Amino acid sequence: MQGRNIRKDAGRNRRAALRKELLLSREMIGARVRELAGEISEDYRGKEPLLVSVLKGSVFFFADLVREITLPSKIDFVRAASYGKEMNSCGSVRLTKDLELPVEGKSILLVEDIVDTGLTLSYITGLLADRGAESIKICALVDKLERRERHVPIDYCGFKVEEGFLVGYGLDFDEKYRSLPEIFVLKE
Ligand code: IMP
Repeated sequence: MQGRNIRKDAGRNRRAALRKELLLSREMIGARVRELAGEISEDYRGKEPLLVSVLKGSVFFFADLVREITLPSKIDFVRAASYGKEMNSCGSVRLTKDLELPVEGKSILLVEDIVDTGLTLSYITGLLADRGAESIKICALVDKLERRERHVPIDYCGFKVEEGFLVGYGLDFDEKYRSLPEIFVLKE
């Protein structure tokens, strides 16, 4: 007979004990996405920005935002390894999926779900600057302030929160909750 995996059980039990508290409704998110898209369309008027989704968390935000932006634009995707299975950062960042379009001379708008320590975006912006991007701006749905380690200038910010672990609308905990249309705070 197979012995019970105590560590796995403990992890499952802890997750089962987490409850979700609504933070941002669909309506709040939708209204803010339209406002951000309006600002972006205005600021980039006459340009053709390259809109870059930082996978996977920004995927729904990106899809909604891009469709509200009234400019000719191109889209691309990048993925950086950041969080593991737990609610804290591993501190080091690497690309696990690179952009496919050329960056040199382009006006880049990086679209991120949430900025926490800032390590992911400071790494990606450094990389794109080295590749000769003409400009790099950041649009983040959520700016989570408490654990910032690297300054990242967020040009378009959806919502600011002080702390907490958020899930839904692309944001996950251990790959769960991404498909929820609202954003929740996970509580122990
Ligand atoms: P940073 O490098 O610490 O800024 O982390 C950014 C990445 O960590 C985000 O793109 C998310 O994937 C993840 N992350 C940070 N905070 C949260 C959260 O509250 N919920 C879900 N994912 C988060």
